[in-house]
Amino acid sequence: ATKFVTLNTGAIMPTVGLGTWKSAPGEVEHAVEYALKNGYTHIDTAAAYQNETEVGQGLKASGVARGSIFLTTKLNNPDQRAPLPALESSLSKLNTPYLDLWLMHWPAPMTKDMKADKEYDWLDTWKAMEDIYLAHGDKVKAIGVSNFSVEYLERLLKVARVVPAVNQIELHPSCPQDDVVEFCLKKGIILTAYSPLGSDNSPLLKNPVVNKIAEKYSVQPANILISLHANKPGHTVLPKSVTNARILNNAKIVDLTEEELTQLHKIDETHHFRACHPAWTGWGGLGFPDCK
Ligand code: A2P
Repeated sequence: ATKFVTLNTGAIMPTVGLGTWKSAPGEVEHAVEYALKNGYTHIDTAAAYQNETEVGQGLKASGVARGSIFLTTKLNNPDQRAPLPALESSLSKLNTPYLDLWLMHWPAPMTKDMKADKEYDWLDTWKAMEDIYLAHGDKVKAIGVSNFSVEYLERLLKVARVVPAVNQIELHPSCPQDDVVEFCLKKGIILTAYSPLGSDNSPLLKNPVVNKIAEKYSVQPANILISLHANKPGHTVLPKSVTNARILNNAKIVDLTEEELTQLHKIDETHHFRACHPAWTGWGGLGFPDCK
């Protein structure tokens, strides 16, 4: 299992980061502070999570030097037409001079009232993010994407001046997205797994295959689901928790055998589900046009 990966920028990204999707203001400050005080060096948030201010408070309260933390946030869909002010807002809320990684949250521009913005092309957002990265490298150390399928990545790479450093997608044994993983590895794009446990009330934590492997290593099922990614090249992983004991526990990764990786991979054959439900085209039933 690896503790770090290297981005296509040359920067180091810690394999395990604290996820904060659904971590509410009021609990996320403490989660971030506790994680950083207990060895985490990687925190992931998003403007859409509406908790950047509180994540920033947690960063500050931890007393950990900014330079020792890898911090990611994401451009919100309704801000795709104006990425620079959105970046400035994220930096201000997070109370930080720079991001280690800034992601386009979805290839899905939206209006302020959260409807599909069919008059605007997400590829123009990527071009704007590239401009910002190339002009303001002191504010944004790397740019990337999230929730991109192969067809969206192919369209982006045809014109990209900057290859995304990362594609952050839902990845767990019941959502392996093999085609996206294979494509990203080939292009040197790091994969970041969100909802690695299968999100809230996940059946994966009760899965017999996961539990059997967990028993062998005397760890929790969550550790196996997290270690799965740490045992693959080019992967990082973002377990979310606001519970001290779990935050502490989830940082522990173990070396899995090839046979165990195969067993985990087979879970999808009988127990497929996605925690997040976008269709890759016509996204979220909101009427987005197919990938152009
Ligand atoms: P909580 O935040 O209340 O501790 P994912 O990372 O796949 O999105 O999963 C997050 C969900 O899994 C949350 O409901 C979180 O609860 C829960 N969780 C996090 N760590 C563990 C763990 N070690 N064992 C069981 N559940 C966990």
